[in-house]
Amino acid sequence: MEEELKPIAVEPTTESSLEGDVHHVNNPVLDLPHIEKKYLGSVKSYLKHDKGYIFSDGSAKVEVTVVTDEIIRVRLAPKGSFLEDFSYAVPPSNLHSVLFDLEESEDFFAVKTNTVICKIKKQDFYISFEDRIGKVVNADYSSMHWEENPDFGGYYVYCTKKASSDEVFFGGGDKATNLNLRGKRIQNWNSDTYSYAFNQDPLYKTIPFYIGVHEGDAYGIFFDNTFKTYFDFAAENHDQTSFWSEGGELQYYYIHGPHMMDVVKRYHSITGTHYLPPMWAIGYHQCRWSYYPETMVRDVAKQFRQRSIPCDAIYLDIDYMDGYRCFTWNKQYFPNPKKMISDLASDGFKTVVMIDPGIKVDDNYWVFKEGQENKYFCRRGDDYFMEGFVWPGRCQFPDFTNPKVREWWGSLYKGLVEDGVAGFWNDMNEPAVFGRGTFPDDVRHYYEGHRGSHRKAHNIYGMQMVRATYDGLKKLYQNRRPFTITRAAYSGTQRYSSVWTGDNVATWEHLKIGTLQLQRLSVSGLSFCGTDIGGFTGEPDGELFTRWMQFGVFSPFMRVHSAGDTRDREPWSFGEDWELINRKFIELRYKLLPYIYSVFWEQHKYGLPILRPLAMLEQHIPKNLQREEEFAFGDKILVSPVLNPGQQEKIVYLPAGYWYYYFDNTGYEGAQEHVVHTPLDEMPVFIKHGSVIPEYPVMQYTGEKKLEHLKLNVYHTSGKEDSYVYADHGDTFAYEQNIYSEKHFIVDGSQGFLVITQHIEGLHSERFDNYHIYLVGMPTLPTSVSQDGVDIELQKDKQDNFFFVVEKEFRKIVVQ
Ligand code: GLC
Repeated sequence: MEEELKPIAVEPTTESSLEGDVHHVNNPVLDLPHIEKKYLGSVKSYLKHDKGYIFSDGSAKVEVTVVTDEIIRVRLAPKGSFLEDFSYAVPPSNLHSVLFDLEESEDFFAVKTNTVICKIKKQDFYISFEDRIGKVVNADYSSMHWEENPDFGGYYVYCTKKASSDEVFFGGGDKATNLNLRGKRIQNWNSDTYSYAFNQDPLYKTIPFYIGVHEGDAYGIFFDNTFKTYFDFAAENHDQTSFWSEGGELQYYYIHGPHMMDVVKRYHSITGTHYLPPMWAIGYHQCRWSYYPETMVRDVAKQFRQRSIPCDAIYLDIDYMDGYRCFTWNKQYFPNPKKMISDLASDGFKTVVMIDPGIKVDDNYWVFKEGQENKYFCRRGDDYFMEGFVWPGRCQFPDFTNPKVREWWGSLYKGLVEDGVAGFWNDMNEPAVFGRGTFPDDVRHYYEGHRGSHRKAHNIYGMQMVRATYDGLKKLYQNRRPFTITRAAYSGTQRYSSVWTGDNVATWEHLKIGTLQLQRLSVSGLSFCGTDIGGFTGEPDGELFTRWMQFGVFSPFMRVHSAGDTRDREPWSFGEDWELINRKFIELRYKLLPYIYSVFWEQHKYGLPILRPLAMLEQHIPKNLQREEEFAFGDKILVSPVLNPGQQEKIVYLPAGYWYYYFDNTGYEGAQEHVVHTPLDEMPVFIKHGSVIPEYPVMQYTGEKKLEHLKLNVYHTSGKEDSYVYADHGDTFAYEQNIYSEKHFIVDGSQGFLVITQHIEGLHSERFDNYHIYLVGMPTLPTSVSQDGVDIELQKDKQDNFFFVVEKEFRKIVVQ
């Protein structure tokens, strides 16, 4: 039962004592007349509820909710009434109850969990977060504040925190800027940004989440607000970090570390992880605006197979449709799509097609008619339909914030699914409208019953579109896993889709931007991400294309895509020399597939990011917080893509430990820089000592060949390291019923010889019987190898490499 508001005795703070803060805090909306900001006064009372407390200054209220021992949510109600407790990013099922206490002292209240103390100062309502040994991790610079918004009668809401002099900031989604956001000001308003530039902002996605690191410790702030939001990372004032919004509620989650990895895991625990994609979705994909007619699609597919370049998917961009009408076929270009898709499928290709949100205004078009009859399209404030021009000409747009509309939208995929389409690509869903950019602010949205204007719904429009797509496909494919990709996103979109970074450019600078964006997306919850390899607009030369392809191998999503007015962009389009290298690297992706799949599993099950910036690996070393070009792909592989033309060598920093250069197995000491040669057919790729890296034989597409055995590359260590390898059916949801296998390996070299142990979890058993184990980096050739106490022979393969065969259920191997 709720307790009554309890009056408490504190010295009231005069308004003037807070004034000092006002001119330190910037007014972000520069063209607005100055409106007085209101700050919280002193804490006068509090109220307990089952998940936390509501504190009041007599008029405004602040709710502090304990989400987990490490996550605390703070909400502000400027006039005492909180807005509806609803979030597209955080499903209620991700919020749990934990035990917590309230302690009151003369100066403050302290909400305590087992890990975090949230202090609310009585005198001025400043909030801070400390760990249990009293280290202040994050603290208000001024109390939360707001101003009346003359445009629509709501509030602009602000939070300003202290920034320490050594503090650096990561996260924030797809921003095309340096990894460390310190000194930057960013905004979130999903925007169609064709050929964007370095530092251009905003772009396509809204991820109002950042990680701060100071004195070696990390924490996160997730400002769950879908209106246009802004972040200032010590840009305007070197000692302050602010975030604010043009509407909605000041609601944020404080996420405790101390490691960046913990913060990202915990951010995933509230916003969700990506479901496990079908195995084919992590193969190589070939895309173009557009492959048509059918003969061209078939020809591209044929060339892949003739040239023995692996490929799992071919994309059809907008021209496959009849006059750009979604869910239709242009029968002139594709007279028998079902037959074409099934022929492609028997050659190992999945077909992925584009679906945009703009529905052509055409009374003879069934999708438009159904949408009209059921009032599924968005309307303006005066009740007229929202109309705008996109590819099909005049369009109306479904209101995806209405569950009924999402259900309908999901069902529209039926025909294409019956035709055999395996994956769907949702584009232009910022939403993009030619000429005016996006919808006008007065467009109305249902917003799950919490109705609002486009100001509130804009940033989640694309997310709700791809959610409708995903949910519909899940029903249509039944137990098969859908594959979806979206351009616009809001926090939590990972529950429904992969993403790509939109219309980039074929320049070396953009290759670098891509490496920054994918690292950033990965630590921002959107791990399944990729760039248009080669650059969407403009023309790469062979070298740029190939270097980008190399980075593509280590991009979670690997797809070549290019704009309609560019020259051919297939792996063979730049001549034989480049084709050879491109093939070698696409093959590398296929060899690494069981490792990559295991990394996807880690992200799904444990919320670990797929790409891990060096800062995340060694956050306690200040200079590593500034490095941008080395990153890990999962736990075992460190890469540093080549980002300059003609580059012959590169200085690469390797984190502490011992590393093996992938292409020749040379060993390198970690915790230092090395000069690494970068011939065109290699790139800096290093494997951590003690790793077990599973390897598939090269296949032309996933599942092409039955595995006779699984190759395991075991890297020498003089310490002790663990690895695991995940496997399942590859494209069903059976893993949700534990039909998978997770094999944990420990490689222990601490006693001067190598002991490899295995522990298997899960109910899935693979068809092969044996592992072929290759030892990498052994100082000398082993004199004896035993499996579970029985001696086994060393063998030589056709390339004269030594290996040995063990049963896949082995428990212990000793190599001496
Ligand atoms: C947008 C997309 C691009 C696509 C094009 C045509 O520009 O970002 O990937 O090829 O539209 O559909």
